[in-house]
Amino acid sequence: MRINRIAIQKEKSDSIDTPDLSLMNPLISKYKGKRGNLIPLLQGTQSLYGYIPKEAFHKLNKEAGIELNEMYGVATFYAQFRLSPVGKHIIRMCHGTACHIQNVTAITEALLDHLEVKDGETTPDRLFTVETVACLGCCSLAPVMMIGDETYGKLTPTEATKIIKEIKRNELG
Ligand code: FES
Repeated sequence: MRINRIAIQKEKSDSIDTPDLSLMNPLISKYKGKRGNLIPLLQGTQSLYGYIPKEAFHKLNKEAGIELNEMYGVATFYAQFRLSPVGKHIIRMCHGTACHIQNVTAITEALLDHLEVKDGETTPDRLFTVETVACLGCCSLAPVMMIGDETYGKLTPTEATKIIKEIKRNELG
């Protein structure tokens, strides 16, 4: 069951293999030399590419003057940062208490089996990344998953798999 839009997902760069680093220029201009700029720079970079490419770390080092060690330390400490590319569609499976009680584990397993990936992995065609997350804030709809900015509730393994198949069909035209 599709519920509503509850989050905004920013556009990503078209190419995740060769990131267009010039996209970072406005971000660097905005935060260069400012105190406490590390987190906003990393967040801004991730919002551009969906993850923080290694080339971006080097650009930030060269042009914003932030030490690589410092950036890697922060980027690996906080779960919000990704260091590898993600799929076009990020599937967030809620494993909070309400969803857990409603057997979200079976749904997650069905999706992982269907997509032939493990939790946190991206499909080889880079269409989907599956992640288990904490409460998505709509427990009355448990079990819940989000795909991009869409929330789906009261799911069953069959329904969840059907949703994925539909997205894939639309993507492949
Ligand atoms: S526990 Fe899943 S939405 Fe709250």
